[in-house]
Amino acid sequence: MASRTKSGTRREPDSRGGKPAALVVHGPNLNLLGEREPALYGITTLSQIDSQLNVLGRELGIEVETFQSNSEGSIVDRIQAARGRFDVLIINPAAYTHTSVAIRDVILAVGVACIEVHLSNVYKREPFRHHSTIADVAVGRIMGFGAEGYMLALRAARNLIEASRMAGAAAKLT
Ligand code: DQA
Repeated sequence: MASRTKSGTRREPDSRGGKPAALVVHGPNLNLLGEREPALYGITTLSQIDSQLNVLGRELGIEVETFQSNSEGSIVDRIQAARGRFDVLIINPAAYTHTSVAIRDVILAVGVACIEVHLSNVYKREPFRHHSTIADVAVGRIMGFGAEGYMLALRAARNLIEASRMAGAAAKLT
């Protein structure tokens, strides 16, 4: 049976031999990073971000899986398939941030702890970007630091996982 901890991390026991795992989801148009509006989003490509995440994941002892899609349904399918298999979801829903009830609903449905990431500081941009459908179901949000935001998110994920495992171990002792 899956267990849920106070911090919200949730996964099947021993589903990956106990190794912490994070799923990183990139939304629409992020496959064009590096060439897409570089003044806003930087020159780092998505594959560079993914490989940096993998390197950092090895350093932190977290298995990292990355996924990009331009389609809302595929993002929902991928998060559903991750149910119970990951401790943390790191997601930049890109334009779907501002519109998607389906992505919000699947995060709630699978009950995974979620960290929202944006390359740009959306509050310095058009008002329609100020609303996020997932902000209040995320553990936290990181924005405005470009590609580095994903690395900050992975470090935050490691801290969340550690805290939830310590809480689990403490609960077993009581
Ligand atoms: C973005 C911000 C969104 O408003 C935009 O639609 C994106 C990228 C960001 O990372 O800054 O595609 O999520």
